[in-house]
Amino acid sequence: MDLNDKIYIAGHNGMVGSAILRALKEKGHDNFLLKSHNELDLTVQSDVRDFFNEEKPDVVFLAAAKVGGISANIADPVSFLMDNIIIQHNVIKSAFDSGVDKLIFLGSSCIYPTQAQQPLKEEYLLTGPLEPTNEGYALSKIIGLKACEYYNKQYGTNYIGVMPPNLYGINDNFDLKTAHVVASLIKKMHLAKINDEPEVEIWGSGNQYRELMFVDDMANATLYAADHYDGDSFINIGVGVDYTIRELSETIQKVVGYDGELFFDTSKPDGMFRKVLDVSTFNELGWKSKISLKEGLSLTYDWFLENECGDEK
Ligand SMILES: NC(=O)c1ccc[n+]([C@@H]2O[C@H](COP(=O)([O-])OP(=O)(O)OC[C@H]3O[C@@H](n4cnc5c(N)ncnc54)[C@H](OP(=O)(O)O)[C@@H]3O)[C@@H](O)[C@H]2O)c1
Repeated sequence: MDLNDKIYIAGHNGMVGSAILRALKEKGHDNFLLKSHNELDLTVQSDVRDFFNEEKPDVVFLAAAKVGGISANIADPVSFLMDNIIIQHNVIKSAFDSGVDKLIFLGSSCIYPTQAQQPLKEEYLLTGPLEPTNEGYALSKIIGLKACEYYNKQYGTNYIGVMPPNLYGINDNFDLKTAHVVASLIKKMHLAKINDEPEVEIWGSGNQYRELMFVDDMANATLYAADHYDGDSFINIGVGVDYTIRELSETIQKVVGYDGELFFDTSKPDGMFRKVLDVSTFNELGWKSKISLKEGLSLTYDWFLENECGDEK
């Protein structure tokens, strides 16, 4: 990417889009096209087409999507499938029709088959049944990745799919009803600390493994892929290391400074036992993760204290 490229980040107010914006600014980019959801609804095809035809960006990061936890996915699979297919279709097609050569699309490690061998290699996609609870979301993402691949093969574009693991960090969602594991544990332990609660309950045995990536590390990886990867198909980007939920919980406990007990409720489900990406292809291109779990959690807790923390007693 050149510093004078006009860059459109779809979803720049979200956790991933805002991290990509920070990373681009840090590299000296300042020519951005930014539209909030209210200003441009990406499900409205004519508006998206007009926007691209008027603005003609050089590079597009597609980080807008309908994203949610298990319960939201189970309750509303129609929206997770249809909204995402429509957003992707509108953005990718309008980008191509208006002459965009470089587009970066976000996949997610949760769209690999549930029974796939670990670590997850790129070629394992579409080799088995998907996780039923987020099948609609996964199908939409697979279609997006395949669309990029087909455009590259048919038209010689450079539409890159990147596949990150579970993300956490700045601008994360700390609503306990919908938060993912890291934000939820940080908030629960913070509340237990300020309310002097003796124990925090954590779902499952704590023995299951998760790969967790700080969102700014992921944004940095995404920019690296944009500059150094030009394969037709997608590439895994991640830290390639996973931790048990018990290790994660104990690290968060130290970061938050909570000295009560952690109670692992084994009557609650563990979810998938392991989900770790094989990032050897990406590492061979020269990228390495720079932010450790401890460091990422500290940065996230600092951000939470400054931005998300009311006086919840
Ligand atoms: N979070 C993770 O752990 C994770 C892991 C792997 C991959 N990813 C991928 O990263 C991407 C972004 O995820 P995220 O975590 O950053 O989600 P997020 O925080 O919810 O951000 C998504 C953004 O998309 C916008 N958006 C949604 N529907 C839109 C529409 N119809 N028109 C315009 N804007 C719309 C949202 O705006 P509003 O909030 O105003 O609706 C929001 O700003 C997704 O493709 C996701 O699959 C995320």
